[in-house]
Amino acid sequence: MSKIFLDTSNIDSMKHWRSVISGVTTNPSILKKEGGDLEEICRYMANKHVSVESGGDLLQQAEVLWNWLSPMNPALTVKIPFLDINGDHNLDIISELTEKGIPVNCTAMLSLSQIILASKAGAKYVSLFAGRIDDEGGDYKEVVKDCVTYLDNNFFDKGCELIVGSVRTVGNVLDCIKVGAHIITVPPPVLQKMITHQYSIFTSNQFENDYVSAEQLSGQRVGVNGT
Ligand code: E4P
Repeated sequence: MSKIFLDTSNIDSMKHWRSVISGVTTNPSILKKEGGDLEEICRYMANKHVSVESGGDLLQQAEVLWNWLSPMNPALTVKIPFLDINGDHNLDIISELTEKGIPVNCTAMLSLSQIILASKAGAKYVSLFAGRIDDEGGDYKEVVKDCVTYLDNNFFDKGCELIVGSVRTVGNVLDCIKVGAHIITVPPPVLQKMITHQYSIFTSNQFENDYVSAEQLSGQRVGVNGT
């Protein structure tokens, strides 16, 4: 069953969607845009997944983030981009952090080949950017399906899970669920679009209006203390 993470650093959004999310993912751009208090987020999410991305000296900063935030949330995961700014891989960093017991969410990936190598390096989560594949005219649904098949066939027992990020539309979410994505990390505005439907609003109003006039029910309305 696909899990839903929330792609945000806004604590109020986490509280609003708490009943349906299994974790949150952040990245430096999200934190720059939305702000947010990483300690508050880690404490609020308690034992649910929180991804925080390293930067600069990736290895050193990853350990700093882990030592700082993991005491507040044992499900903390440090994000490491698959490639560095020069286009070289970060597989050794992923491997070294994993060996130190720091779980890694390898991020900023757009292909099955990257996912394969990141999982072999020991990443606990591998993040595929569906929207950015789509931006280039790629078929993100096929890539997601291939990644799920690869991970289920080769890493099912090792627990490496695919996170589909860079989600822009409800269609993206539904497409990824249909092909069995392990986790989809969804921005709050997209989750909001998933719930709304004009005819549902109309129907809720119809039922509420009729509730107060239905004889069997209107006489049964009880107050807080049951009287
Ligand atoms: C996951 O958390 C990714 O960092 C995020 O979904 C990227 O989304 P974007 O491609 O819209 O920046």
